[in-house]
Amino acid sequence: MDLFEHQAKELFAEYGIPVPRGVVAHTVEEARKAAEELTGRVVVKAQVKTGGRGKAGGVKVAADAVDAAAKATDILGMDIKGHTVHKVLVEEASAIAEEYYFSFLLDRANRTFLAICSAAGGMDIEEVAASTPEKVAKVPVSALDGVDRARAREIAQAGGLPAAAVEGAAELIEKLWAVFLDEDASLVEVNPLILTADGRVVALDGKVTLDENASFRQPEHEAYADKAAEDPLEARAKEKDLNYVKLDGSVGIIGNGAGLVMSTLDVVAYAGEEFGGQRPANFLDIGGGASAEVMANGLEIVLSDPSVKSVFVNVFGGITACDAVANGVVAAFQLLAERGESVTRPLVVRLDGNNALLGRQILADAKLAGVELVDTMDDAAKRAAELAAAGV
Ligand SMILES: Nc1ncnc2c1ncn2[C@@H]1O[C@H](COP(=O)(O)OP(=O)(O)OP(=O)(O)O)[C@@H](O)[C@H]1O
Ligand SMILES: [Mg+2]
Repeated sequence: MDLFEHQAKELFAEYGIPVPRGVVAHTVEEARKAAEELTGRVVVKAQVKTGGRGKAGGVKVAADAVDAAAKATDILGMDIKGHTVHKVLVEEASAIAEEYYFSFLLDRANRTFLAICSAAGGMDIEEVAASTPEKVAKVPVSALDGVDRARAREIAQAGGLPAAAVEGAAELIEKLWAVFLDEDASLVEVNPLILTADGRVVALDGKVTLDENASFRQPEHEAYADKAAEDPLEARAKEKDLNYVKLDGSVGIIGNGAGLVMSTLDVVAYAGEEFGGQRPANFLDIGGGASAEVMANGLEIVLSDPSVKSVFVNVFGGITACDAVANGVVAAFQLLAERGESVTRPLVVRLDGNNALLGRQILADAKLAGVELVDTMDDAAKRAAELAAAGV
């Protein structure tokens, strides 16, 4: 999960990292008030989860509260790389002497953490990294040793930071490591990290990605979720612990195993070309031990998407045998009928692998309305696409 800049800065502040004073505003009037409270020159910054806000005109300096309102008028509602600006951060303007770059991230290829530091920070860091990579220090960080003050100082020096900034930067880098580690982040980036005219080192921007695989031990991260941007179906699926991603097609997909579901999306998109461009409506992996309840929950989520015209259930029996899945489908139909959500759209089921014949027999015997059994994945995808086209 990516955080907004203001959330990243709130988190930084909890760890004692210096950040400018700032207030979040959702309206022009709130922005005016915020600037009034902060007094003096302020910066109005678009809060969107994408980079390059400054270059897109989403970061503007304002002389006073009236000017801040004018700048907020320009920025609120603006579109930055497909992200609409719903809120701004109004922040005291810092007197910048120099801008640096700093980040911690996961270096998957080398199976280590990495600190990246450069004295040439600011909005053109991508250009610097491309044309003069020697100006960007990449220092591996061992998960066991971490970053203490001495190591932080080495990193700042490797990045070419001037003597005046090294101590302040080292303190900040040590604290950023604590954020990275304790919050289970996969990215913590500060660009620019600045040296102020009066010699302080401050985090002027903040980008944080939290690893959602760690959410079980980070319950307070829930508060960072951007509920407004969440797809309502995805939110409901999450509550039921389903791995569901909403897509924009008409063929609902349910499968077991992420790899199988991914290839099912491809096969359905390919087969759908023949039927007026029918495409998958979602990704849903019901996992290994798919119980009747999981199947019922999955069907319920997929079918509550009104653009779904047919559903393709693609199961390869492994540890969970096909007869168990078939019984799951039968029980799911009953469960849904009891919930008043009877299945009315056509379902194409392909069962293969462990106990496939038994599974098919169970489904055939159950004579569920609208359920068709097809033996191969390609043929089943084709039939599901055909039914979706007929249902539109
Ligand atoms: N509080 C502030 N006071 C003074 N100048 C600021 C302040 N915040 C931002 N700036 C200036 O605006 C520039 C862009 O701001 P910032 O880095 O937050 O946005 P950005 O364009 O999104 O950056 P990135 O591309 O790294 O995401 C900074 O490099 C800095 O020069
Ligand atoms: Mg920045």
